[in-house]
Amino acid sequence: MANREAPVHRWVPWIAGFSRQFVQDALARHLPGPAPGVVLDPFAGVGTTLIEADIAGHTAVGFEINPYAVFVARAKLGAHRLESARLRASIRDFVAFMEESERTGRAPKASPPAAFRTRAPFYSPAVERKVLSAFDFMATLDAPIAALFRLAFAATMVNYSNYSYEPSLGRKASVGRPEVEDDDVADVIAAKLSQMADDAGWYRDTRANPERDDGRVFEQSFFDGYAKLAEGSVDLLVTSPPYLNNYHYNRNTRPHLYWLGFCTAPRDLKRLETLNVGTYWQNARDEECIDLDPSIDEAIREAIEAVRARNPDKGIYGGNGWANYAARYFNDCARFLDGAAWCLRPGATALVVIGNSILQGVPIPTDRFLAAIAASRGFQVANIHVPRKARVGSSIVQSSVRAGKANGGALYESVVELRWL
Ligand SMILES: C[S@@+](CC[C@H](N)C(=O)[O-])C[C@H]1O[C@@H](n2cnc3c(N)ncnc32)[C@H](O)[C@@H]1O
Repeated sequence: MANREAPVHRWVPWIAGFSRQFVQDALARHLPGPAPGVVLDPFAGVGTTLIEADIAGHTAVGFEINPYAVFVARAKLGAHRLESARLRASIRDFVAFMEESERTGRAPKASPPAAFRTRAPFYSPAVERKVLSAFDFMATLDAPIAALFRLAFAATMVNYSNYSYEPSLGRKASVGRPEVEDDDVADVIAAKLSQMADDAGWYRDTRANPERDDGRVFEQSFFDGYAKLAEGSVDLLVTSPPYLNNYHYNRNTRPHLYWLGFCTAPRDLKRLETLNVGTYWQNARDEECIDLDPSIDEAIREAIEAVRARNPDKGIYGGNGWANYAARYFNDCARFLDGAAWCLRPGATALVVIGNSILQGVPIPTDRFLAAIAASRGFQVANIHVPRKARVGSSIVQSSVRAGKANGGALYESVVELRWL
């Protein structure tokens, strides 16, 4: 069953979510039990690793910089405490409130987030009025139930907007889809909430060793936060860091970040950009020359210099900007592995799912480069496994970003299996 159908995982779509099956297999193989372990995902996203680890009875710990992803992961990890009956009663009140608002033409009190600017209106007027009425209703709820409503809104908010993921956030009109003049916003949100109420019961019934604390997510860069974990305390690390493809997690979650109030000004997004693994090409392209960490392998240096030499006539769009971005990316890979080395107990495994890249025509085998950096830090490289080369829509990281670009067959994903010695 794909994540988009699986209980709890299906709450919120996420552009680059792990396949839960991959995580389940990893747990079964590396932590077969009976004793539970500590499972870490330093780039937790919406928490696929953490949810699967938690269901299997392990202690789940994650780090994530995007406050929206943190909000989602925490809500899912708390699913077993969700009061389904109370939520269902609130859904009924919500539907009645929205019907009444429509019938009476009541003007909403809430207003859209002032700093959220888009080229075309994000919502058509009729849809926006309904969304704002939904916010008026949420303002009457107590915090735990309001959080579930906010989640249901966030999970569905792009569907009834004039934007969509193709795979980056863009106007529906620019890919030939009609704008959404009107929609039954209340129904869509209510259906999502009912699904959440159903899944909560499933989660309670399925979660092993229920008398445990919830899984935890630190809203912090792993690089700054890893020392919060006791040295040598992690039994298994399963993660997928951002790939070297400049996919803009922050920009693509702008609607969620602004509408939920996690960002109130562009500087909030800028902060997230600078924390993101590798930052972004946009932030590196103007720099004269970003150096690789001296501890990093010669082959990586050569590949980056080959990128740097490409298309000097193209200015910021030429090789230098991409070489700078790649240098930051691999420097951050080194920081990631230093953090992993701190957290893992001797003998523990790290599974890192990573996609390769082609920059300015230069192939960048990120899997082998990551493995080389790991080896320089005392990891044993147990295996580099390429599960599928043709990955249209079915890769480990279920990302249409890569599926869309994979048409020449040159892009692949690998599982780099490392052992901390
Ligand atoms: C490929 S996604 C992980 C998806 C995850 N496997 C899932 O199933 O949801 C990478 C995530 O890393 C996060 N990230 C980027 N830089 C980070 C950092 N320095 N510390 C923690 N998280 C970071 C991004 O916000 C993004 O959510």
